[in-house]
Amino acid sequence: MSGELFPRPPRPRAEIAPGAVHVPDWLPEERQRELVDVCRDWARGPVPIRHTVLPNGGVMSVQTVCVGWHWQPYRYTRTAGDVNGARVAEFPDWLLRLGRAALTEAYGDPAAGAAYTPDTALINFYDGDARMGMHQDKDEKSEAPVVSLSVGDRCVFRFGGTENRGRPYTDVELSSGDLFVFGGPSRFAYHGVPKVYPGTADPATGMRGGRLNITLRETGLPG
Ligand code: SIN
Ligand code: MN
Repeated sequence: MSGELFPRPPRPRAEIAPGAVHVPDWLPEERQRELVDVCRDWARGPVPIRHTVLPNGGVMSVQTVCVGWHWQPYRYTRTAGDVNGARVAEFPDWLLRLGRAALTEAYGDPAAGAAYTPDTALINFYDGDARMGMHQDKDEKSEAPVVSLSVGDRCVFRFGGTENRGRPYTDVELSSGDLFVFGGPSRFAYHGVPKVYPGTADPATGMRGGRLNITLRETGLPG
């Protein structure tokens, strides 16, 4: 992080569970800024960012916009019938390449990286009060890993088991630029974000506040 009087010491990478890897500070600051810019564009449209409404009428506290495929509980479609009916933005080639590089880095396995073909990104924005309850990412028909990139405020990322949303779990602090990958035996692990630390973002990332998280996934859906 730039401009800090007392820079935070480097944090080691860690395997949180089999197939679940945290790589701190993976994204250079310039790349974080580019991601913030492009996410700001996607938030404007063609499908504007919104608080997802759950089938029980509950409203998620995070705001979400998708590219490639639109996620709504609990399926993927090309058009956002629950927002404005528009087709979501195309999944860009550079994001595919970023996903492959992320997987190669996390698993130290270029072949796994080359085989990874994410076709959707869920972009979540958390203001200081937003949270995400423990859940599994299980609407994808592919078992390929999920790649998660974070920019902006720090948060607690809670990573549990595959059986239920309760203990045991591990709390990991995710900071701006961090990469987290969960695949293999951890692909269907419960996870959530119980806390965001407002005001902890470095303004150099271009975030005025809040936390941005981008998850790349393979939907496993045809073309
Ligand atoms: C998610 O589970 O989809 C988002 C996780 C995060 O915000 O870090
Ligand atoms: Mn998730």
